[in-house]
Amino acid sequence: MKRKRIAVFISGRGSNFKAILDEVKRGVINGEIVTVISDNVDAEGLQFAVESGIEYKVFLKQPDDSRQSYFERIISYLQECNTDLICLAGFMKILSKNIVDRYRNRILNIHPALLPSFPGENAQAQAVEHGVKFSGCTVHFIDEGVDSGPIVIQEVVPVLDDDTEHTLASRILEKEHRAYPLAVKLFCEDRLLVKGRKVTRI
Ligand code: GRF
Repeated sequence: MKRKRIAVFISGRGSNFKAILDEVKRGVINGEIVTVISDNVDAEGLQFAVESGIEYKVFLKQPDDSRQSYFERIISYLQECNTDLICLAGFMKILSKNIVDRYRNRILNIHPALLPSFPGENAQAQAVEHGVKFSGCTVHFIDEGVDSGPIVIQEVVPVLDDDTEHTLASRILEKEHRAYPLAVKLFCEDRLLVKGRKVTRI
């Protein structure tokens, strides 16, 4: 089976990128990270690309850019890289329709809550404020909506009485670092079957 060519999108810390990279290096994932794309030149996670000799590229939104034209430039680059899979890992821009259409069911994202609860930003704070007893993380495919695409994997953590958004976030992050590489591994082995909203492992 051909090794999948993966592009990882980051905006900040990049710990999920690092978790995927580690599993690629260990040979657990049948793929290679061919590029890292960031919308932030100061994203700390870019250091992991540099350390591992992975090409990275920063795309800054220009004043005259629409969301569509911004992502059109990214699509051209992804095509040059022969990208099979896009992994959003803390990428802070909402994708435009052109890239979602082009890479339908080939864009994964990780969200720090049990979707469809608490989509959007500050999911861990939303969970603490709401008083839920369990939260977790969700790996899902991207569709037109915000955090609304077909769900691949969820991992659950308890929410404790004295949790702050930060203590909850770090408990969830541990799960993220297991769930995301697993989802990428399954994708790269062609073991994810998407039918409508349902994703099954084959
Ligand atoms: C994670 O909490 C992820 O769920 C969310 O953004 C954060 C990114 O963290 N989408 P990192 O940059 O991977 O460390």
